[in-house]
Amino acid sequence: MSASLTAVNTLRTMEIVQVRVESPTVKTFVLVDRLCSKAKPGQFLMLWIPGVDEIPLSIMDASNGLVSVSVKQVGDATRHLHGMAAGETVGVRGPFGNSFTESRGRVLLISGGTGTAPLLFLAKQLSAKTERLSFVEGAKSKDELLFIHELNGVCKEKNLVTTTEDGTYGLQCLVTEPLNSLFDREKFDMIYTCGPEVMVKKIFELTEQRKLPIEASLERLMRCGIGLCGSCVIGKYRVCRDGPVFNAAQLREVKEELGISKLGFDGSRIPV
Ligand SMILES: Cc1cc2nc3c(=O)[nH]c(=O)nc-3n(C[C@H](O)[C@H](O)[C@H](O)COP(=O)(O)OP(=O)(O)OC[C@H]3O[C@@H](n4cnc5c(N)ncnc54)[C@H](O)[C@@H]3O)c2cc1C
Ligand code: FES
Repeated sequence: MSASLTAVNTLRTMEIVQVRVESPTVKTFVLVDRLCSKAKPGQFLMLWIPGVDEIPLSIMDASNGLVSVSVKQVGDATRHLHGMAAGETVGVRGPFGNSFTESRGRVLLISGGTGTAPLLFLAKQLSAKTERLSFVEGAKSKDELLFIHELNGVCKEKNLVTTTEDGTYGLQCLVTEPLNSLFDREKFDMIYTCGPEVMVKKIFELTEQRKLPIEASLERLMRCGIGLCGSCVIGKYRVCRDGPVFNAAQLREVKEELGISKLGFDGSRIPV
């Protein structure tokens, strides 16, 4: 039986048990939390950094009473979090949102930046169940390519394609560039993606042209995480409650906003 909304929405404070450096800008934080340790790939949690802010983060791993998040330092909250060490206290609400569906055929996962974190979690769960699992990961440079070792473990080496914008590792191109030739060569039963929204938009357009099924995890500014405040709207959906994972039919409904605009915290529409 899943936990009640009251239980998942109650703030729990706990110690960080481990901090791992993943790249010059990304660290993984491991926390003890019974509810989030039962999360499914695609779900997110709200992490409270005492005295600073509360921010949404995708769950990167969850098992045995532990939950992990991988966080890129971009602003105030994430800078404070990056300054924290094992033994210090944070707060957690969640897990929130829906999760990716489990496809058993030939699947392709495409990630950019920290979007690799939830897709690594998904890949680990799917690897034993799918006929073939392929992964395309992109980053600006070799330093910022996340979880290469782990991804090599879950997909056979030839099924992992990496791209960097500066050519320091893998193919020198954007993560979307190898996709057309990959779609020409191979059949896929499901495409999963997570990453910068302009990347998601481009991938959605490619899958629409080829009539391929897709599930994409989206990000919007979030405050409550439970569908009340409206900060995270896209079209008729609230990303925190109806997503963050959306299928092709839903992405079609929000395509006027996808990769184009979102609400800022003052309610005005701002570019993505
Ligand atoms: C569902 C979801 C999952 C996410 N998963 C991850 C993840 O796994 N790893 C990761 O590094 N980042 C993730 N993000 C983005 C992360 O929440 C922001 O980078 C973070 O909130 C920035 O906070 P800041 O104070 O450091 O930056 P600032 O830019 O200073 O943020 C100021 C305020 O904006 C909000 N904010 C800024 N950017 C975002 C954003 N993209 N989404 C939501 N709120 C934002 C924060 O709540 C904060 O209050 C996710 C966002 C969403 C919505
Ligand atoms: S964050 Fe409040 S409705 Fe989604």
